[in-house]
Amino acid sequence: MKRIITGGAGFIGSNFIYHMLEAHPEDELICLDKLTYAGNLENLTEALKNPHLKFVKGDISNRKFVYDLFETEKPDQVVNFAAESHVDRSVLYPDEFLNSNVMGTGVLLDACRKYGNIRFHQVSTDEVYGDLPLDRPDLFFTETTPLHASSPYSASKASADLIAQAYHRTFGLPVTISRCSNNYGAYQFPEKLIPLMIWNATHDKELPVYGEGKNVRDWLYVMDHCKAIDLILEKGTIGEVYNIGGHNEKTNMDVVKIILEKTGKSESLIKHVTDRPGHDRRYAIDPAKIHRDLGWQPETPFAEGIVYTIDWYLAHTEWMAHIMSGDYEKYYDTMYTDRDKKFSR
Ligand code: NAD
Ligand code: TYD
Repeated sequence: MKRIITGGAGFIGSNFIYHMLEAHPEDELICLDKLTYAGNLENLTEALKNPHLKFVKGDISNRKFVYDLFETEKPDQVVNFAAESHVDRSVLYPDEFLNSNVMGTGVLLDACRKYGNIRFHQVSTDEVYGDLPLDRPDLFFTETTPLHASSPYSASKASADLIAQAYHRTFGLPVTISRCSNNYGAYQFPEKLIPLMIWNATHDKELPVYGEGKNVRDWLYVMDHCKAIDLILEKGTIGEVYNIGGHNEKTNMDVVKIILEKTGKSESLIKHVTDRPGHDRRYAIDPAKIHRDLGWQPETPFAEGIVYTIDWYLAHTEWMAHIMSGDYEKYYDTMYTDRDKKFSR
């Protein structure tokens, strides 16, 4: 089996590659990644020692490049992680989200049609469902919840899902889609809540909490997500959508306080900053279908996963230092200095 893993140099994609090399040692993997600011070959240092993994740098929205790659490699399967993935960046720079997330997915789907009806899995997000009210803890996203995206990021992911479903229905392309809740773990770029707060806390910097910090996210350890995708590839029904999540809802303030407690830092580091425009209130996945049909359930409790994640960041200071030496400070300044001016509607 030869699989193309797009976006494999990013956070979840690199974890998935480590999982697949171990779980399917006979397979050949090709990591196709543009190496944007979020793509980092250092994430794959150990994996690339394995001759079953090959890295190819390229853009999934470049049709000629993608077709040439499919022609040469003749893959059996494509797992599409490649995307612009940060909501805040999509508020400031929506265009790149349309290019990579929508057009890029379209090009991959065309390539799958053209080169032999190739099996395609789209890695999507619970954010396509929009949000849930904070005062209705009884409500959850199921696979039939209507798509109701809020941000340019989630709208681009919802568009990609619809195109993938259309290619299944219209052309019979063997497509599956997974929609997962917020992931955390090793190799996550420190623009996202958990690694950003770990870095700031351990460097005695302020922890910027958007608004009151009451928004709720449903956190899943990244390797549990990777195992779920592997299971869908193995046993999932073609044409189906699978929600992935572990009933682990926490307010942002809960998460920040846990990180402060585990790193031994004071809550006085918390700073409330201007809220994200259109900020989704609550995400909550109902994972009943993947549990019932494929037998998946999360294995890593948050209390364990967060300690492992904090320890990972503390142990990988060189990895962090390389990120910090790039454009990160400029990014941080853009996002967090004079935030009220940039993020007011
Ligand atoms: P990430 O930003 O860490 O990594 C994205 C990777 O895609 C990077 O390596 C980047 O270089 C690559 N990439 C971006 N545009 C590309 C292009 N045009 N061509 C080729 N490569 C390109 O993102 P992540 O958090 O690992 O998310 C991976 C996927 O999972 C995304 O599709 C995201 O929507 C989805 N997802 C993420 C989460 C989460 O909590 N992070 C939850 C559910 C779903
Ligand atoms: P994030 O990790 O960006 O994921 P998403 O927006 O896709 O869920 O953010 C998680 C939550 O944390 C979200 O409600 C926004 C909030 N947040 C902050 O309060 N401060 C921050 O500096 C960041 C990056 C996020």
